[in-house]
Amino acid sequence: MNHEIVEKNVGLMAVLIVLVISGGFLAEVLPLFFSKEVNQPIEGLKPLNALELEGRDIYRREGCHVCHTQQIRPFRAETERYGHYSVAGEFVYDRPFMWGSKRTGPDLARVGGRYSDAWQRMHLYDPRSVVPESNMPAFPWLFEDKVDHTITVQKMRTLQRLGVPYSDEEVAGAADMVQGEFEIDALVAYLQQLGTVISSKR
Ligand code: HEC
Repeated sequence: MNHEIVEKNVGLMAVLIVLVISGGFLAEVLPLFFSKEVNQPIEGLKPLNALELEGRDIYRREGCHVCHTQQIRPFRAETERYGHYSVAGEFVYDRPFMWGSKRTGPDLARVGGRYSDAWQRMHLYDPRSVVPESNMPAFPWLFEDKVDHTITVQKMRTLQRLGVPYSDEEVAGAADMVQGEFEIDALVAYLQQLGTVISSKR
């Protein structure tokens, strides 16, 4: 009977819905802001250098995150295949994070160091040359286009303001580091550091 009162009174229902959602937020989300486990970097974590950062932006531009996740769940089937499960402290400098939500291809959270640079380049130029059954698209233009170095310094400065611990020298030298590099160099540099702070046991 009491429920009928709520169902027939839209205003009251709206107020109660807001109360329930706020309660959920307070209980589930708010504590995370203060939990060290979630917002402190793990030991040895370094922010992406200028070249890797440009590589991350190419990864995003090309939509790699649409087919690849970067989050290993704490289940045996995942850790056997990909290595140590992902922990929040690995991602504190990622803005935005590249976790993704769909695995058309394998998870890449710990792909760093799994293959040589040469393999990564061949695979991106023509995936079927190294994995015959692959249905991953080829990205040959990455070998022709140079990294746009004109806004690298601004990108790093913005991240620095948001709390990523770049030194002023790193920011100042950012454009020089990426100028003249091909996009493939930046992307491979990004891939090769993924997940390497926690060693995968593969
Ligand atoms: C349409 C979906 C799709 C897109 C987009 C895509 N991939 Fe893939 N990727 C795959 C599939 C499927 C595989 C597994 C077959 C293979 O190794 O080629 C794969 C495999 C890989 C592997 C090897 C992983 C391993 O552990 O063996 C890497 C590295 C990789 N992709 C990187 C990238 C990068 C970088 C991009 C963006 C430039 C990208 N992929 C875009 C589907 C995709």
